[in-house]
Amino acid sequence: FKQKTAYEIMPSLVGSEMCIRDRMKGMTNKKRILSGVQPTGDLHIGNWLGAISNWVALQEKHETFLCVVDLHAITTEYDPKQLSKNTLSTAALYVACGIDPKICSIFVQSQISAHSELCWILNCMTPINWMERMIQFKEKSVQQGNNVSIGLFDYPILMAADILLYDADYVPVGEDQKQHLELARDIAQQRINAKFSKGENILKIPQPIIMKKGSKIMSLNDGSKKMSKSDINEGSRINLLDTPEIITKKIKRAKSDSYMGMEFNNPERPESRNLLMIYSLLSGKEVSELENDLSQTGWGTFKKIFTEQLIESLKPIQERYQVLINDPYELNKILIEGKEKAEAVANKTLSRVKSELGFFEMEK
Ligand code: TYM
Repeated sequence: FKQKTAYEIMPSLVGSEMCIRDRMKGMTNKKRILSGVQPTGDLHIGNWLGAISNWVALQEKHETFLCVVDLHAITTEYDPKQLSKNTLSTAALYVACGIDPKICSIFVQSQISAHSELCWILNCMTPINWMERMIQFKEKSVQQGNNVSIGLFDYPILMAADILLYDADYVPVGEDQKQHLELARDIAQQRINAKFSKGENILKIPQPIIMKKGSKIMSLNDGSKKMSKSDINEGSRINLLDTPEIITKKIKRAKSDSYMGMEFNNPERPESRNLLMIYSLLSGKEVSELENDLSQTGWGTFKKIFTEQLIESLKPIQERYQVLINDPYELNKILIEGKEKAEAVANKTLSRVKSELGFFEMEK
């Protein structure tokens, strides 16, 4: 798997302003990154190709904080017996995908109470009508029927707290998180900095980093729908820990069409486009080169090549994962060290926000 470097900072959002942290930073001149994945079920190749592989590419040159967002995972129905197991498994997958715990801080969101506390403060600053626009809430609440929790509605504000606590310069995410990032920026700028800053900004305005390729991997059953953990059909996604047998079965059943040859730009062929994109990312070959090579290849043959590539690309991740998940001591150590570094930063930001917003402070 070739690490990608081509990414795009949303042009409309360029221009983060200086904040108090920039002046105080001193220790490191590296720009800071914050991102996370929900430990709901198994991570799939969309999470990897759209987000985690981007973190891997960026980690060397940035100060990186990566959380497993378990508080987000309880915003829809969940199994308490699985939560802790999934949290650990998600952290192990970060490392298995190439995140280096020696240079990145990997931690569990619920272990740092500043996330919930800042979320409350931001709740009180955010107009409800901003929240009513959130597309993901609308989509997810349809799936939940009568069971929609306040937590699901509040989810993007908790995400804003995750980001703003770390004064993150950049937030590498998939396309589906763009609106949540815009909300985090608006809350920080319009509801905190504009209202409460006396001089320098209280909060840093973060910028999303969204890959040009891979930021929206589509379902295997429907090339016009995003690949998603919450899709009830397991066959719609390839999970990072799927065995070669399962991968083979899922790709065999994946939706195809009646055309001959693989194409990227034909709007009537979203499934062909999606698999070509995934294949390009996994093989490191350009889409145009693949289109040339595969212009006379039928679905049956392409699916075989595709399956082989997928199995081969996931093999090293799965091998590293097995070593880690069987070494709870090492994993725990990574999470303790990550928590220590993250908590120091988070608590500092929270104190700063509380102080600037007028909360009572003890005399020292
Ligand atoms: P989550 O857990 O749904 O997804 C994790 C990351 O994977 C990306 N992603 C995809 N990328 C490409 N194609 C897909 N089909 C695909 N599906 C998911 C997501 O865009 C995301 O980057 N709200 C977030 C988690 C979160 C967070 C944060 C992220 C909470 N706090 C702070 C960044 C910063 C979420 O539910 O992601």
